[in-house]
Amino acid sequence: MKKSIKEALNWAKEQLSEACERPLFEAELLLSYHLGKERIYLFLQEKEEVNDFEAFMKLVERRAKHEPYEYITGKVSFYDINLAVEEGVLIPRPETEILIELTAQIIQKEHITQIAEIGVGSGAISIMLARMFPQLKIVATDICEAPLRVAQKNIETFGLTEQIELRQSNLIDKVSEPVELVISNPPYIAEDCLLASNVVDYEPKEALFGGRVGDELLKQIILDVKDKGIKWLACEMGYDQKEPLQVFVNEVGVESIEFYKDLAGLDRGFIIKFP
Ligand SMILES: C[S@@+](CC[C@H](N)C(=O)[O-])C[C@H]1O[C@@H](n2cnc3c(N)ncnc32)[C@H](O)[C@@H]1O
Repeated sequence: MKKSIKEALNWAKEQLSEACERPLFEAELLLSYHLGKERIYLFLQEKEEVNDFEAFMKLVERRAKHEPYEYITGKVSFYDINLAVEEGVLIPRPETEILIELTAQIIQKEHITQIAEIGVGSGAISIMLARMFPQLKIVATDICEAPLRVAQKNIETFGLTEQIELRQSNLIDKVSEPVELVISNPPYIAEDCLLASNVVDYEPKEALFGGRVGDELLKQIILDVKDKGIKWLACEMGYDQKEPLQVFVNEVGVESIEFYKDLAGLDRGFIIKFP
């Protein structure tokens, strides 16, 4: 089948109208990806014939079934970089940048040089922190193999193998180094929570669900970090978990806990300092 760029975009926009809020924009992104060109090229060369239109159709059909754009193209933009992702690895979310910024402030203020990350996923958090602090050493764990493989690839792409060591581990069970801070964006969604199709049908369950209530892994992380005598813990959490976690840390005993909000004004995480 032969189609010009303009015709291909109109066709794709139609196909994506149900699945996407901005069907034309997503059609443009997919066509730019297919052609290996910038979006501007589509407007300048709208009469040009699309090479291998059938392959482009397949990309559009995947997106029309709600597959996330990032899994189709195999990459996600995070801060100023592109990271590889694939099915089985969580697509890093913009709100995680807040967790990184707050943690970076502690690392700087406290002159921290050794940290651990729980649940490395694509490597987004560890890679950003390693880039911000060239002296920082990070042990990053994940329980699943796919994230560890993809994180390793991303770490190599950014030349950070000297700074970040990956380890397959349940939480920090296999971290015996004297780390001063633990950072984590763990699974924290309740098992029965209804999620959008692009999330629940494609993103890994191990990265999303934290247990029946949702905060079970967060609570275990708090206990593990305390048991290992680590001073700082920075975590992302669900918008409705502030209260139960406050009650929990009151029982556990911490020097301080500060909750933070995301850009939508929802409770999104906390920083704990242990005595
Ligand atoms: C929400 S994702 C976060 C990924 C990445 N850090 C990010 O922010 O984009 C949670 C990650 O924790 C991992 N995970 C789940 N349970 C775990 C456990 N018990 N121990 C270590 N990692 C775990 C998942 O495989 C997943 O990669």
